[in-house]
Amino acid sequence: VPRTISVALAGCGVVGGELLRLLRENTNSIEAKHGVRFDVTSVLVRCSERTRPVELAPGAIVTDVDSFLGAEADVVVEALGGIEPAGSIARATLARGARFVTANKALIAVHGAELQRLALRHAARLDFEAAVGGGVPIVRVLRESLADTPVRGIRGILNGTSNFILTRMEMGLSFDGALREARERGFAEADPARDLDGRDAADKIAILAWLAYGIDPTVVRARRRGILPDPEHLTADAGALGGRLRLLAECAQTSDGVTACVEPVIFLPNSEFGRTVGVQNRVVIDCGWGEPIGLSGPGAGGGPTASALLADVIRGARQLPDRAGTPVASASDETPHRWSISLDQGVPANLVPAIAARAGVVLEAARDRGSRLHIVTRRVAWRRIDLMVRTLKSRGGRPGVARLELEDSC
Ligand code: HSE
Repeated sequence: VPRTISVALAGCGVVGGELLRLLRENTNSIEAKHGVRFDVTSVLVRCSERTRPVELAPGAIVTDVDSFLGAEADVVVEALGGIEPAGSIARATLARGARFVTANKALIAVHGAELQRLALRHAARLDFEAAVGGGVPIVRVLRESLADTPVRGIRGILNGTSNFILTRMEMGLSFDGALREARERGFAEADPARDLDGRDAADKIAILAWLAYGIDPTVVRARRRGILPDPEHLTADAGALGGRLRLLAECAQTSDGVTACVEPVIFLPNSEFGRTVGVQNRVVIDCGWGEPIGLSGPGAGGGPTASALLADVIRGARQLPDRAGTPVASASDETPHRWSISLDQGVPANLVPAIAARAGVVLEAARDRGSRLHIVTRRVAWRRIDLMVRTLKSRGGRPGVARLELEDSC
């Protein structure tokens, strides 16, 4: 019998609703992989009459915060947004030593440090991966992977809605039309002014500065300009200069302390930020290593954000005394790619076409590069290339193989 963990969810909009759907639909895979079952015991909503994406037991739906808190679930997930009642729910949950998982960047930017202290005092746990970057796992990278690595600076596109609007406008859509589409697709905040005037991105960069430098997010003084009041002219001017407009958030460690800023920046179309389009977020972390760490992905929307919440819910569950999960079978990757194979003279070149054909690999080009034969294949799954490579090796060859993604749009 898998261990059952009770979950209470505050907020059942685009993100909360999607989390419920994931919990319901992934019950078996969660149990197989993680050895736990989640039982949603209580859902706090504003209006109990609305239809929900998944059916809930009538008793599970509550509209007042006290009844919601009374459920005392093992994990409380908050997807309401705004400071209250989210803050009260967070404090009550952490103070009784339970786990609080949130997607709420405004709450973490204002009360994150205080809530973290509360969590430590009560041996509770606070997680907020979904608060920054939607589906991009940037919180975990800073909090865990780079836990003690000095960070020089962080730059990023952190607001999916404004990026979606800017890039739709580059395609000729009006600002109003693009904003309407962003709202319909569930990217924008309840108050979309927070997306457009840079407050949403400023909250997120303050959270990242907290994780990178330990500076309380409330004392991060971010210079802030959004894409308002005239995004149409801003984008037209960027185009006239041969560039693309993006809303960039940055923070850095200087000799004076931590600086932060959110402002529109014009980038070359081919630069990494110029190429960040639609609802994508992109974060680049400079650790002074010559090459920065870059992360990108869907920065907003129900699916990616709920998936980040779910990951926090599952991760915390794994920290409790564990029960082994059922191993999940692995499957081979059948995706076809073009491959580049470099072959030394260990195998006579005239034998190669037959070896390829026997492995089911079709050659697109074969060129004599002096001491090597350079082959490019048609699209084929790795399994066949693997077979071909092993045959070449058994005949004394030393092939070097690379996957080709030259058509890749990124
Ligand atoms: N409104 C936010 C955005 C949602 O567009 O980035 C994700 O935090």
